[in-house]
Amino acid sequence: MSDLFKNIVSHSKEYGFIFQSSEIYDGLGGVYDYGPYGVELKNNIKDYWWKAMVHNHENIVGIDAAILMHPDTWKASGHVDAFNDPLIDNKDSKKRYRADVLIEDYIAKIEAKAEKEIAKARKRFGDDFDEEQYRTTNPRVMRYLKQMEDISKRLAHNLKQNDLEDIKLLIEELEIADPVSGSRNWTEVRQFNLMFSTQLGNIAGEEGKLYLRPETAQGIFVNFLNVQKTTRQKLPFGIAQIGKAFRNEIIARQFIFRMREFEQMEMQFFVRPGTEMEWYNYWKEMRMKWHRAIGSSADSLRFHDHDNLAHYANAAVDIQFQFPFGFKELEGIHSRTDFDLGAHQELSGKKLQYFDPEINENYVPYVVETSIGLDRMFLAVLSNAYTEEMVPDAEGNEAERTVLKLHPAIAPVKCAILPLLRNKPELTEKARTIFDDVKFAFNCQYDEKDAIGRRYRRQDAIGTPYCITIDFDTLKDDTVTIRDRDTLAQERIPISRIREIVEQKVDFRQLF
Ligand code: GAP
Repeated sequence: MSDLFKNIVSHSKEYGFIFQSSEIYDGLGGVYDYGPYGVELKNNIKDYWWKAMVHNHENIVGIDAAILMHPDTWKASGHVDAFNDPLIDNKDSKKRYRADVLIEDYIAKIEAKAEKEIAKARKRFGDDFDEEQYRTTNPRVMRYLKQMEDISKRLAHNLKQNDLEDIKLLIEELEIADPVSGSRNWTEVRQFNLMFSTQLGNIAGEEGKLYLRPETAQGIFVNFLNVQKTTRQKLPFGIAQIGKAFRNEIIARQFIFRMREFEQMEMQFFVRPGTEMEWYNYWKEMRMKWHRAIGSSADSLRFHDHDNLAHYANAAVDIQFQFPFGFKELEGIHSRTDFDLGAHQELSGKKLQYFDPEINENYVPYVVETSIGLDRMFLAVLSNAYTEEMVPDAEGNEAERTVLKLHPAIAPVKCAILPLLRNKPELTEKARTIFDDVKFAFNCQYDEKDAIGRRYRRQDAIGTPYCITIDFDTLKDDTVTIRDRDTLAQERIPISRIREIVEQKVDFRQLF
């Protein structure tokens, strides 16, 4: 882990954002609990997504389907047969890895070398630097890029053809070692199904076998007609859902990046066959805008076309985010054709079709999906916001602070109400009155413990955009000091303006 990433992980724990699940029993790998500030931030991210996708689109509606579904769902969707990852064990360390991830990590290392060369050249040539030309003419960079392309192509081909032997051969040729032990003593590669299974209480054996859903999307597909009929939607229209998904990841790592229990925010957009690429491009752009609006810089986001299309897709792209451990998938946009509805129609024997009055035809709609991991988005937001910086303290000396520069609309606490001194009842009573007045408008926090400077730092660390200080002048003229988290500017304002100022800044409309 990089130092930055380690700091983000320990900050998350220290300030009540994320805890390891069942920590008192030494934890459960790949499962995490959200603490008091974590749950607020997570709910705000959900809200931002729901408002953008459902409330802002007349033709998108939401549902909340159950986690447990009829087991045939997963036969039709292809998950029973094809939701596998290629795994490999190291015979010496006894550690288990995803064979494709070992190779992808190798590619990422080459990419880092190429980027280092390019950064050096950019520094050397300054404003005259033409990156595109450098990438296509510098022999060393060209060699790195070619190597990356060759390995990626071979991996994609092998995954598509299920050629596990050649994946093993590739690992050997690249001399990839176990990242923990350095050993190259590998087993054969084999497929591993990622679904968690459970058992119905009233039916024994295979017949009672159920799965915890590995994606929320299928709950949308099986409800397609229920929703379309009850909401009288015409195509194109979408169904959105936020909910838990479960995957028995071979290695769950990088904190909440890859978990075994996680949440997805998915939207299936049903369209007339033949128009899917138009909508695919539309959703690519819309989703990228959504990410940028929350404060992620253009440099930290990029599109990455899939080399290896899932069994249901005819086009697929990832929005990758530059996490502290490199560019990785944050969201997927997939053109899923009529694969899912068609497969459910066939297995269930129930028509899942739409009558299109414009062309007077019945058909199984095509689907464009946007699918983002909520926890992964949480990590992206946290990585983007986490800042260590030097600022002047109360005496005017430079002091280090850790601040979460979250967009105010998603900050867990919007405003802290701080009486200057805790042992002065006239101050604490006044502060409580203000707190009681604003607490229904937005999430705020009352804090009277410790010196005011320390309280400011605590609020900075959880990303609170505003601190309101109640002092002796407040008792005379009903004014307070409002401190801005980012500029550190302090302004005297009447108590009557607190709500208006804070509400204006934390309003979700700022994001749209
Ligand atoms: N319905 C399509 C689907 O599930 P996916 O690419 O497998 O596609 C979509 O997953 C998103 O879900 C990913 O982009 C990622 O953000 C999130 N995700 C997938 N597996 C995850 C895991 N093990 N832990 C956390 N998030 C995960």
